[in-house]
Amino acid sequence: MTRFGIIGGGLMGHGIAVALARAGHRVVVYDEDPAALASLDERIARALERCGVPPGDVGAVTARVTAARSLSDMSSCVDAVVEAVSERLDVKHQVLEAWEATVPPVLPVWSTTSVLPLTDVAKGMRHPQRLVGVHWWNPAYLVPLVEVAPGAETDHRFVQEACDVLNGMGRTTVRLHRDVPGFIGNRLQFALVREALHLLEQEVCDPVTIDTVVRASLGLRWSAVGPMENADFIGLDLTRNILSSLAPHLSAAVAFPALDEPLDAGQRGRASGGGLLTWPPGRGEEVAQRLEDGIRRNLGAQ
Ligand SMILES: NC(=O)c1ccc[n+]([C@@H]2O[C@H](COP(=O)([O-])OP(=O)(O)OC[C@H]3O[C@@H](n4cnc5c(N)ncnc54)[C@H](O)[C@@H]3O)[C@@H](O)[C@H]2O)c1
Repeated sequence: MTRFGIIGGGLMGHGIAVALARAGHRVVVYDEDPAALASLDERIARALERCGVPPGDVGAVTARVTAARSLSDMSSCVDAVVEAVSERLDVKHQVLEAWEATVPPVLPVWSTTSVLPLTDVAKGMRHPQRLVGVHWWNPAYLVPLVEVAPGAETDHRFVQEACDVLNGMGRTTVRLHRDVPGFIGNRLQFALVREALHLLEQEVCDPVTIDTVVRASLGLRWSAVGPMENADFIGLDLTRNILSSLAPHLSAAVAFPALDEPLDAGQRGRASGGGLLTWPPGRGEEVAQRLEDGIRRNLGAQ
């Protein structure tokens, strides 16, 4: 059992707290926003309910998660810390600087950054060798994958230790050889998003059609057979022929008018009631539920 501190109790922080506590670890969460701490118990209880944890067992898990009033409160009682604050380099630097002032160099820091280079996150740290990229997927208590990567100065013992802990929790852990923005999953995901936006910009179809295609084909296939196995399965010669024909037509864009247009009109997606699709009241909750139900169904744990 490890005692984890989590800095940032938002979407990922609370989800990671649930994952760690369900695996038997003790967790202390700190957030600068008192509202995030005040709602922590309720959000964790709801997540446990959605995970199908019997009501009688919820208390035992929630008892392993407590809130800290300050970073220094947390520093005396944890063996490792998860940095789960907003995806901004300045915020991460500020938090890591404050944290490092309170703890010895042997304590590992797991950063949840999605796309910031770890080497940049580690800049300014007194002990950058302790920083490991540990990228969970939302909801962290359901999606098995955790991607683990070193920054340029990370001591690989910390990387191995993170993998050992996560494997011990039954997670599907993958280890990257080096630091790249976006780890593996988000690079693959956003290559697809870029091409989807390209199709919209070329007026090939509408956004609903893109989602229909992915949900009724690729989404189903990829949960069973990954694209590398599929390349061998259909044959590398055929894979090369297809790619050679298609590659010149695929997007290499670094600007995205299909996003600029709604954003310029104040349409940010779910939060503003409109984006690529329309978001009437209730749709956000329905999508969140459908996402979790779908993941559970795929995992065979209805
Ligand atoms: N949302 C996702 O699907 C997802 C998935 C994987 C990784 N991530 C990464 O996880 C990290 C957190 O993202 P999130 O979606 O949970 O964001 P979020 O906005 O839900 O939560 C961030 C929390 O950090 C707190 N915070 C901000 N500055 C702080 C400070 N100085 N001290 C203490 N607390 C502070 C905020 O109050 C907030 O509660 C980001 O790096 C993000 O890229 C997000």
